[in-house]
Amino acid sequence: MKLLIKNARIINADSTIEADILCDDGKIIRIEKDLYIEGVAETIDATDLYVFPGGIDPHVHMHLPSPAGFSSDNFLSGTKAALLGGTTTIIDFVTPKKGESLLNALAKRKEEAFNSVIDYSFHVSPIEWRDTTAQEIKDCIKEGITSFKIYMAYKKVIGIENEVISKVMKVVGEAGGMITAHCELGDEIEKLRDKFAKEGKLSPAFHPLSRPANLEVEAVKEFIAMGKEAACPVYVVHVSAKESLKYIGKAQQKGQQVFAETCPQYLLLDDSKYQGEFRKTAPYVMSPPLRETDDSKAIWMALGAETIQTIGTDHCPFSLEQKRLGRDDFRKIPNGAGGVEHRLALLYTFGVLQKKLSLNQFVNSTSTQVAKIFGIYPQKGVIQIGSDADLVIWNPKTEHTISAKTHHQNCDLNIYEGFQTKGEACFVITKGRIIVKKGQLVLKSKGSFLKRQKLD
Ligand code: URP
Ligand code: ZN
Repeated sequence: MKLLIKNARIINADSTIEADILCDDGKIIRIEKDLYIEGVAETIDATDLYVFPGGIDPHVHMHLPSPAGFSSDNFLSGTKAALLGGTTTIIDFVTPKKGESLLNALAKRKEEAFNSVIDYSFHVSPIEWRDTTAQEIKDCIKEGITSFKIYMAYKKVIGIENEVISKVMKVVGEAGGMITAHCELGDEIEKLRDKFAKEGKLSPAFHPLSRPANLEVEAVKEFIAMGKEAACPVYVVHVSAKESLKYIGKAQQKGQQVFAETCPQYLLLDDSKYQGEFRKTAPYVMSPPLRETDDSKAIWMALGAETIQTIGTDHCPFSLEQKRLGRDDFRKIPNGAGGVEHRLALLYTFGVLQKKLSLNQFVNSTSTQVAKIFGIYPQKGVIQIGSDADLVIWNPKTEHTISAKTHHQNCDLNIYEGFQTKGEACFVITKGRIIVKKGQLVLKSKGSFLKRQKLD
């Protein structure tokens, strides 16, 4: 089935051109000026609109188990919201239970993701070292999982010691994979949490105080050093602290393969959100916590300078009812917030329109770099002949106010409540089919598991 997009202003990471795009059988097959084709099923006139490669969110947690129940978006509701916001691919996570093999956990997670409406992959998390772990990692790579995530935080549940991290890194590095990490020093955090609890300091205001920036910075430093030692490419997820950037930048300058991601919340929100009553502050309980405005400024700069390559959302919404589990103890508040629907609009409004990012950099960090780093380029992340026809047609003029009352994420909270954005995905096309038209889902779509390549 052929789809023709006329008069497109095509924004790629490295170019901006005006041309028509012809899609057939799920792929982009021609990009030329003045294309007139017989037998086209649908034509879109993109005059005055931008065309971006579909957004790729490298960090989401759909249907994440927690003591407060599952994160409130499952793969169906969360990926519908993603699509409406212009994201056409996600990378979620596989977290095995203690004693469970990585491949078994992967197989179960694939079943949970069967109703995703967009393409998906996973980062797999070794949460312990067993005799079979090295082989399991190699088997995952054969299955198309080329990135692994370790947690330096959450020591009581899924976090692992540096000694184990080094073992995992060695195997992953030799096998040509990538290690991503949640960098916060878990033991130090536990001490601070216990100290505050003993002092009866249990409101959400103590969440950020128990996870200060220096514990992220120190973890980033250790993670990079372990990556160097193991000759394994490393990727720091959700960078939130200004000082972390120094270590990331220095290692990159020395030629080490170090990549970094941030999230809209660390660019646009700050720790003043933790002052006030529970109902108002609990929605912002996430890890790492929101930082100071100086941190946000430095992160914007690092994004512009491309020290940070990607923007994920860490989409992990919980309802107010779920957050209430920690009404009397911040340690019980499920960590996380939603955002997968708003990533492009927020970055376009506060990045591109405020001249912190060029349009090409916007595409680079929300799509192209993610595809390159995680082994799905040029299938995804670029508008070129032969790539998947995953396209976002962006109306730069539309205005919108974000609200939990109108968003499509399955949650009664929205940490961007009241934010005014400009620009909207007026058409979203996945594999050559128009799924979103004028901000509405108009067709059913089915995502596929993506087998990813190793980093070049
Ligand atoms: O607070 C967060 N980020 N929740 C999701 C789990 C994680 O740490 O990534
Ligand atoms: Zn996360």
